[in-house]
Amino acid sequence: MIPFVDLKAQYQTIKNEIGEAVNQVLDQTNFILGDPVAKFEEEFAQFCQVKYCLGVASGTDALHLALRALEIGSGDEVIIPANTFVATALAVSYTGATPILVDADPENFNLDLNKIEEKITAKTKAIIPVHLYGRPMDMDKLITLAQKYNLQVVEDACQAHGATWKNKKVGSFGIIGCFSFYPGKNLGAYGDGGAIVTNDEALAEKLKMLRNYGSPKKYYHDTLGYNSRLDTLQAAILRVKLKYLPDWNNQRLGHAKLYNEKLTGVGDLILPSIDWANPSVFHLYVVRTKKRDALLKYLSDHGVQTGIHYPVPLYSLGAYKHLNRRPEDFPITEQLSQEILSLPMFAELNEEQIDIVVNLIKQFFQPAINILNNQGSSIDNDGRDQKIKLGLIGYGYWGPNFARTIKESTDCELKYCADTKAENLTKIKEKYPQTVATLNYQDILADPEVKAVVIVTPTKTHFEIAKNCLLAGKHVLVEKPLCYTSWEARELINIADERGLTLMVGHIFLFNPAVRYIKELIINKEIGQLRHLHFQRRNLGPIRQDVNVLWDLAPHDVVMALNFINETPISVVASGESFLPSGLYDVVSASIKFSNNIIANIILSWIDPIKMRDVTIVGDKKMILFDDVNPSEKIKIFNKNIDVVKKATDANFGEYQIILNSNEISIPAIANINKEPLKEEFSHFIDCLTTGQRPISDGENGLAVVKILEAIQKSLDNNSQSINI
Ligand SMILES: Cc1ncc(COP(=O)(O)O)c(C=O)c1O
Repeated sequence: MIPFVDLKAQYQTIKNEIGEAVNQVLDQTNFILGDPVAKFEEEFAQFCQVKYCLGVASGTDALHLALRALEIGSGDEVIIPANTFVATALAVSYTGATPILVDADPENFNLDLNKIEEKITAKTKAIIPVHLYGRPMDMDKLITLAQKYNLQVVEDACQAHGATWKNKKVGSFGIIGCFSFYPGKNLGAYGDGGAIVTNDEALAEKLKMLRNYGSPKKYYHDTLGYNSRLDTLQAAILRVKLKYLPDWNNQRLGHAKLYNEKLTGVGDLILPSIDWANPSVFHLYVVRTKKRDALLKYLSDHGVQTGIHYPVPLYSLGAYKHLNRRPEDFPITEQLSQEILSLPMFAELNEEQIDIVVNLIKQFFQPAINILNNQGSSIDNDGRDQKIKLGLIGYGYWGPNFARTIKESTDCELKYCADTKAENLTKIKEKYPQTVATLNYQDILADPEVKAVVIVTPTKTHFEIAKNCLLAGKHVLVEKPLCYTSWEARELINIADERGLTLMVGHIFLFNPAVRYIKELIINKEIGQLRHLHFQRRNLGPIRQDVNVLWDLAPHDVVMALNFINETPISVVASGESFLPSGLYDVVSASIKFSNNIIANIILSWIDPIKMRDVTIVGDKKMILFDDVNPSEKIKIFNKNIDVVKKATDANFGEYQIILNSNEISIPAIANINKEPLKEEFSHFIDCLTTGQRPISDGENGLAVVKILEAIQKSLDNNSQSINI
């Protein structure tokens, strides 16, 4: 895991010094305004190139007390950036004044200097520039503007300890500068803390009183003050840390430089520019991308913590609804709130960690489609092989068929094959010596050359493997069924969609020429209104240990039923039995109801004497038998409709006979009947990768099938109860 900020890493480097400093305070028990506070104030004032510093309880208090000291209050207006932490605004509100928001500068995300003047009114008393993310504002321009309108400048340097503008420390430009020592800051205490810096002696005296109950002398209270003092323990800790601050800031700058170098040109990322004359102290390293939310999730899924500073702009916060500000008035802030992402940043971050973050981001932005740039040819101008490199995961029962299909494709190269069984790897190596055989499929994901992965593993592993493949930026073709639950299916669809990746399920019957032929007949209304469909899928083994007969065999039939009927079913009823020692259902019959009284029955068994794979489709015009094990007569069409006639012999008993009006049975010649469905399926997958089209058996189709299987399973587990879909 790469944390956003690693406070422990820093503590480890200064543990002994901190221990000593804390112990000293404990020994002296001078907890309130003890000697370390005065010492720290002196040292921090010097660091900030100002005469006075006063330690207070937090950054928020620093701002609040500063405004109070300047006698800003009810009826006054204070200009602040719309793009800042809420505390900047809260401090204004605490005084009774109104915060006036100004949109952000699209270049540096700080207050837009060109938009301040239009907000100045007779009530405006002060401006609070915020050196956001550690980046110094242009203080020349800001001070000139403030002087022009006779406005006080209170700097919010809560994120910018040590940053300089033209070699002068931020916080020293305005009449007052405010700092926060919140633990995650560049200079962070081990609790809350803050400081006010100023060159104005009178203000310093006033602030000294304000932070201490408004009292110049114990028990004499001249003004309504506050209890807001920097804790002695925190001051002692800050004294230790202040010595290291310049180095830590330099390290942060170095990390930002590395991030910038490594991330330049990746995806649509906009990186923070570095003004080397006035560099940021990179409290935060903030990038922009239109795919912010997806990238954030991707990084989080891969163990990288990030942040958004800030996801909800001030004007949209509940606390500031009363300002009645419209997002349209702050287009830049609004856009930033949707596009910014803060990557891990702290002094102790190392290049290895940066590389992990960078590589994940690169993987995320890997171009999703258009893998074959030069269609038709598999060799590019440099003579380099342009074949799509694929990985196959699973070389058990069905995997070898895929391996062969991939090897036979002229557009692809089977670069990897993974299996958890060493004996399977030996088989791969024997058959395909050029293919890298690995026990760990993660090896495939780590190779940026691999664009797509075919997953032919046991069903229970589909979700996890497919998810990891998608998260690694690979297109995925997964064997049926897509996964075990509809929420898993939905998650896979979402991940694929967010990243523009192809997710296809191996619903092989959609690529079967006979099934396509029947579908044509249905579309052309030659079957008439469908009445019922009957599927049989029986054989004598092979029996699976990981799934029951339903999940093993029914996906094919459910795929066909959905394809032929072309609507979502209403409900299912199922019953099943387990006869073999595995305890799994070996025999299942399920009845799926659709609207218009159409019904699809499926009988599944892996303990039957012969292999039967047939489908009868009964329409009011024609009936069809599709017998998949019949090598020559796959489809029989019963050309005449049915009639119900009174049986002449038993007329008195009211018996009826259903008769076929004609014995006319036709056996159509089906185009491409010898085309191998697996080849068709795979070449459709490759077409989708190169053109960006959605597969006919996409994730949604996979989900539709999983939903029905889930419902059938539920009915089986609940005494054949009818389950609505
Ligand atoms: C820009 C800004 N202003 C003010 C504050 C308030 O500081 P504190 O949390 O110490 O009250 C912060 C701290 O998060 C900040 O980032």
